[in-house]
Amino acid sequence: MRSHYCGELSGKHIDQEVELCGWVHRRRDHGGVIFIDLRDRAGIAQIVFDPDRAESFQTADSVRNEYVIKITGKVRQRPEGTINKDMPTGEIEILGHTIEILNKAKTPPFQLDDDHVHDDVKLRYRYVDLRRPVMQRNLQMRSKVVKHMRDYLDSRGFLDIETPMLTKATPEGARDYLVPSRTHPGNFFALPQSPQLFKQLLMMSGMDRYYQIVRCFRDEDLRADRQPEFTQLDIEVSFMDEADITNLMEDMVRHLFKESLGVALPEEFPRMTYAEAMYRFGSDRPDLRNPLELVDVSDLMATVEFKVFSAPAKMDDGRVAALHVPNGSKLSRKEIDDYTNYVSQFGAKGLAYIKVNDTAAGKEGLQSPILKFLPDEVVAEILSRTAAENGDLIFFGADKTRVVNDALGALRNRVAQDLDLLNGEWAPLWVIDFPMFEYNEDEKRWESLHHPFTSPNITDIDAIKANPGKTLSRAYDLVMNGTELGGGSIRIHDAELQSAVLELLGIGDEEAQEKFGFLLDALTYGCPPHGGIAFGLDRVVMLMVGAESIRDVIAFPKTQSASCLLTSAPAAAGARQLRELGIKLAKSNKPDQ
Ligand code: AMO
Ligand code: AMP
Repeated sequence: MRSHYCGELSGKHIDQEVELCGWVHRRRDHGGVIFIDLRDRAGIAQIVFDPDRAESFQTADSVRNEYVIKITGKVRQRPEGTINKDMPTGEIEILGHTIEILNKAKTPPFQLDDDHVHDDVKLRYRYVDLRRPVMQRNLQMRSKVVKHMRDYLDSRGFLDIETPMLTKATPEGARDYLVPSRTHPGNFFALPQSPQLFKQLLMMSGMDRYYQIVRCFRDEDLRADRQPEFTQLDIEVSFMDEADITNLMEDMVRHLFKESLGVALPEEFPRMTYAEAMYRFGSDRPDLRNPLELVDVSDLMATVEFKVFSAPAKMDDGRVAALHVPNGSKLSRKEIDDYTNYVSQFGAKGLAYIKVNDTAAGKEGLQSPILKFLPDEVVAEILSRTAAENGDLIFFGADKTRVVNDALGALRNRVAQDLDLLNGEWAPLWVIDFPMFEYNEDEKRWESLHHPFTSPNITDIDAIKANPGKTLSRAYDLVMNGTELGGGSIRIHDAELQSAVLELLGIGDEEAQEKFGFLLDALTYGCPPHGGIAFGLDRVVMLMVGAESIRDVIAFPKTQSASCLLTSAPAAAGARQLRELGIKLAKSNKPDQ
């Protein structure tokens, strides 16, 4: 029906006859001439109808926003002074010859260029929302990224293999979405939180290099970068160690950025241990564009009189750290109070600070609510360690290590954003040497930091049992600009070690057999050393297009409360369906009908 996309027209099409189809983005009546901005997925072109062609002119006059039309016309240079440099097609316009209304449209529920439309309205009319040029660009980028992923992996011998959606629970730390079985009343499938166990089985099947672009389901608290169903680029390989895998994967990521964005990422991504990341940045996914760092002052504070500082400084699992903010002394009392409020959501009980006005004047040159508690030599050492200069500010966190890291790690991001401190555009980083286990204080038991199939970096079971908290794993995360894009590990390929790790996690033999018996069995029938990784595709695309929300890169996302406003899912099931499934609803759970 058409000769070109609207958005691809440019000066080189001048004098050509074109046929275009699309949506009326805007219609303007300018003193006897009608302008229609016609929009399709490639962009917007300006069509001009003048009264010389009376019939077309009348039709053009009658169209309204979002009507679907077809036009024919001739491309011409825009008159001097009307060239629009902000529009890719802004140098030309099309003198309309004919116009045909293919379909009328009701007045749209919102204007496409209105930035203040409530999210609920946009999601309810998602098909209209997706017409917005930014959404068109985002989904085009997503498609492009997927193509480049496939091309890259295909050219390196990876096989695209599908794994079941109706399956058994995979422990990735979230709740499962369950699907009741009609043929096995009282039993449920779980939708996969990831294909973790299947991809390991595929290695045991000799597939050697597997990938899948696959939907995963996790019933967890949603955030700006989390959806209940999301997509992973899931990868597993045999006979490769962590250096092989991370090298190959960073090469792929470089390829993706080059081909999709034209961005050249560094030749080699830096690698940092988990311990160093936590010590210097308070986070296992530090944004390395941010020059601010935490400086440990625990040793200095152990002997001061200020209990708030000395108590955690003396604790094994306590920490006192400083965050030095260059030019921070201009922060007002109110701004500091706001930051204090901000860190309180991470459990911080306060946010002490020192404003550095004049280093030459000793204590006199400083301004701080805690100065009176600190001996001169401690103050001098703080200034020296942080390399603070006149006009700077130093924040302090003192508490359990976890609280200090969470609070100052988040504050570091927040301050850098507020003071516009980020350097450079892209900062990839591999975080390695994660702890294998984490102690859950509430439940009084060890948990996997990654998942229970990740290999520890030592194979001596007794040594692991003797000191679970100090055992490191062979896991790695790829972080970019403070976002965790992907994570993976070398897996346990030894049945005995796998059983020991499950036991340490409090999963006894019987439970292990019931939950993962198939995997434990498979380990005994010839399992190669193997490992892999999964990237969050949505997050990769989000980062590439600079989207603020993961919803902006997913065609039909869920709301914060995990529902779909377009289709009204989830919805009640009919009585008959429930009967067939052998399900009876508790009175309190009967949905409103
Ligand atoms: P993990 O649980 O770290 O690892 O997930 C891998 C990546 O998936 C993305 N991701 C999400 N994206 C959007 N919404 C969510 N709710 C969500 N949850 C996770 C993140 C994350 O880095 N089986 C292992 C991988 C492996 O070991 O190979 C796994 O799933 O970008
Ligand atoms: P206070 O003696 O409670 O008035 O606290 C003095 C200063 O220490 C204030 O600026 C508080 O914000 C700060 N402060 C209190 N508790 C902590 C803490 N756990 N970590 C960092 N600063 C704190």
